[in-house]
Amino acid sequence: MIGMGMIFDETYRPFFERSVGRPLYDPTFGVCSVPLTAVATRTGQRAAAYRAKAPADVRDFESFSSADAVEQLVESPVDAVCIATPDDRHFAAARLAIEAGKHVLIEKPSVLKLAELDELQQLAVDHGVLAKVVYHKLLDPDHKKLRTFVADGVLQHVNNGYCSLLEPKSIAGSQFAEWITGRNPGTYVAVHYIKLIDFTFGLQLKRVSCTGQRGIVGPANGPTWDSTQLRLVYAYSDGREAAFDIHTSWVTPDNFPGYVEQEVQFRFDNGVWNGHSRKRGVECTVEGATPFTIKNTINNHYNAALLEPWDERSQRGYGVEVIERFMREAAMVEFGGPLQERAARLASARKLAYNDLAADRQVVAAVEAMEAILARHAAGTPDCVVEVNGPAGGLALQPPGSAEIDVLYQPPV
Ligand SMILES: NC(=O)c1ccc[n+]([C@@H]2O[C@H](COP(=O)([O-])OP(=O)(O)OC[C@H]3O[C@@H](n4cnc5c(N)ncnc54)[C@H](O)[C@@H]3O)[C@@H](O)[C@H]2O)c1
Repeated sequence: MIGMGMIFDETYRPFFERSVGRPLYDPTFGVCSVPLTAVATRTGQRAAAYRAKAPADVRDFESFSSADAVEQLVESPVDAVCIATPDDRHFAAARLAIEAGKHVLIEKPSVLKLAELDELQQLAVDHGVLAKVVYHKLLDPDHKKLRTFVADGVLQHVNNGYCSLLEPKSIAGSQFAEWITGRNPGTYVAVHYIKLIDFTFGLQLKRVSCTGQRGIVGPANGPTWDSTQLRLVYAYSDGREAAFDIHTSWVTPDNFPGYVEQEVQFRFDNGVWNGHSRKRGVECTVEGATPFTIKNTINNHYNAALLEPWDERSQRGYGVEVIERFMREAAMVEFGGPLQERAARLASARKLAYNDLAADRQVVAAVEAMEAILARHAAGTPDCVVEVNGPAGGLALQPPGSAEIDVLYQPPV
């Protein structure tokens, strides 16, 4: 495990704590234990804090925290490496892990540039390992149903839509304060919806534009963004287009009703899909507790610590399921049959577009374009547009009212 912050605590920790007592089983690969054997963090403090409270059978991991913690971790006898560091530090850790021959699972967004994605993909092929990314919203039952309707032709031909994801101020102000300078909430959370749109509708990305606001997390003319509004235009093969607006913020008041509020609307030729995180489920008030230590609107589908009807405590949901799923894919590659058929098993695990880095190209393209547009905006030129796979190259940024074309990525996306 590289990085032991919020997402480790929410999803990886419950996975490791559960699987130690109940190893994975599949008739094809048999029983497979997935112990947490080593961790790398910046200071070692979070690892020590976790060890102090972890169940006895999970405490026995090595903790690396010096400047070369990741190098040390990948040299230790681990089979798979999970990367949950801040997003601009995914690439370096993933490269080291893949070069050391480890299967790799990276938190979203996988990387911030297509050139980095190319390098990781090639290294994964050269070293015969899996390189995958976590987009847990694809496992949300509501999003599975949406995709099923699209796949079955119940909902036909999406034309446009919007998505919004609002995070509370505490995320920008304290949780991420250490690494937030120069960052934006679009890269952090719009990617969930970029991936949902990309994976569910299977269209060709054509243009990216983005604007945003500053002045709360950092100075009004600085490089750190409070909120962003991203627009993606996709093309169908018959020339029709579809457009999606994705709005994100990490400066919503800490006591707003949604806490993390998520909303989508997709309009099709023959229908409309509306999803709303607050309207689908529970709203709960506890004096002195909500919305700070208990959320008002709890997403029990994502991740819920609960008492099972058979009186067992558990923590489960699609946020944990997505990690188990990756471990099953790795177990299938390593133990799912004879060694001489490993390459075929690896190839089949790589075909899974929901999590393979090879299928993350348009998402990374959108992130790279968005970050370049925001950087230009911060440098005094707002409203640039990035054209995808146009005459100038894979990603070509165009400032408004200017003949300049800045090619961010030359090969086709
Ligand atoms: N899937 C989701 O919905 C979701 C939610 C939150 C975060 N995330 C992703 O998870 C990642 C981490 O987010 P978080 O909320 O856990 O962040 P966090 O700030 O709470 O934790 C980051 C961790 O990374 C460690 N770290 C930082 N730099 C490091 C380095 N160079 N080497 C080793 N360790 C290093 C820190 O010590 C810390 O333990 C981000 O990519 C984020 O986008 C995903």
